[in-house]
Amino acid sequence: MLTRRRMLQLAGMGTAAFSVPPILTAARASDRFLELTAGPSRKKLYRNDAAESELWTYNGSSPGPEIRVRVGETVKVRLFNNLEEPTSIHWHGIRIDNAMDGVSGLTQPAVPPGESFDYEFVVPDAGTYWYHAHNKSWNQVARGLYGPLIVEEAKPAFSRDNDLTLVIDDWRLNRDGSLDVASLGHLMDWSHGGRFGNWLTVNGESNPEIQVVRGQATRLRLINAANARIFEINPGRFGAKILAYDGQALSKPQIPAYAPLLLGPAQRMDLLVTPDDDFLLEELSGDDPYPFARFRTVEGDGTQHSAGSLPVNAIPEPDLDNARVVRVDMTGGAMGRMVQTVYQGKILSGEDYPRTGQLWAFNGVANLAEEPLLAAQRGETIILEVFNDTAFMHAMHVHGHHFRVIERSGATIDDGDPWRDTFLVGPEQTVRIAFVADNPGKWLFHCHMLEHAAAGMNTWFDVA
Ligand code: C2O
Ligand code: CU
Repeated sequence: MLTRRRMLQLAGMGTAAFSVPPILTAARASDRFLELTAGPSRKKLYRNDAAESELWTYNGSSPGPEIRVRVGETVKVRLFNNLEEPTSIHWHGIRIDNAMDGVSGLTQPAVPPGESFDYEFVVPDAGTYWYHAHNKSWNQVARGLYGPLIVEEAKPAFSRDNDLTLVIDDWRLNRDGSLDVASLGHLMDWSHGGRFGNWLTVNGESNPEIQVVRGQATRLRLINAANARIFEINPGRFGAKILAYDGQALSKPQIPAYAPLLLGPAQRMDLLVTPDDDFLLEELSGDDPYPFARFRTVEGDGTQHSAGSLPVNAIPEPDLDNARVVRVDMTGGAMGRMVQTVYQGKILSGEDYPRTGQLWAFNGVANLAEEPLLAAQRGETIILEVFNDTAFMHAMHVHGHHFRVIERSGATIDDGDPWRDTFLVGPEQTVRIAFVADNPGKWLFHCHMLEHAAAGMNTWFDVA
């Protein structure tokens, strides 16, 4: 088994030029749809002399094209499905109209092969978001179906040259360097920490070299597109500050209070770096630091082209004094307690329920139940009190809302109460999050370790 601590080093590090995914800009004030075609394509993920991988991509590239719009604009995307199985697209982190959330089986039927679906929604908040397949995500995202969705400020705070998107993924490669598809769905991954890869890419390239301008305030938008890996990075090593988490700007750029910082699956972190020298971005979760992007400093014209800070989005503030507290106990998985679990309406003993393919549960229920986890009145403040009674860390994502992390048991460092759409919760830890349930519809709450979601860590709530 490949573990989180064992990032396979197949051979020497590849090097590649930094490639920016093709950019699709919304045609303003027109009814033209951007087209995203999900389909098979071939790509070398590893070195040039290695085998090609059979990927599933949007418009032939993984990551798919960067969709770049201005805050408040309407995004229109026509999805064509050229895959052999149904699919849909979720717009991760967007406080979106429920019908456009892209969750197969909850907000829309999955789009069958050969058919299309029109997404049309307003983006209310500036920031770094992403889109990805939301049908059998553990399979479709692992094969490459994701891309960046960048919502610019009304007046962009960074010039385009100083605004870099870095979509990070870890792929599980075979010995010949091709994507290991045979191990997709392995029970060992599903019952443990999820599917880990053994090769990191940034925008689909191995250890790219990226040019930055000396002395110029530069924004790095990091997006974790991995199925399960929590990246560990130390922005302090190159003097960077934190601008935003999960799309939401902090009130001012923050010096990280500790290191390494964790970037869980689906999470984003925008960094502010003003380079005076070359530097490396390293992944620190393995035994040795693993450099995955190299920044080369070049001379600029000396004038500052970027603001160096961001305006804060207007998200309704939770009313903690009048909040409803809803408890979520997370159970299951390897080395976890075996508890009686309900799946598809049937009560199963701790020994029996793993035979259904379900391995995890929230409050004793595996996967989506008939009844929602909670039914909120529109405008009500909800506190989710999430207790992780498993042996693994999880990356919990709320659809359609951003929340504040208001409490973490056992935390020795106060990192404030930032807005997030995905939070990490460690074994034996309780995390409390608060949000105003102001977006009507049926919303998922699930682990973004995609194998965990598929194997039970998936529930939903209703806002009337
Ligand atoms: Cu990014 Cu339900 O997902
Ligand atoms: Cu999980």
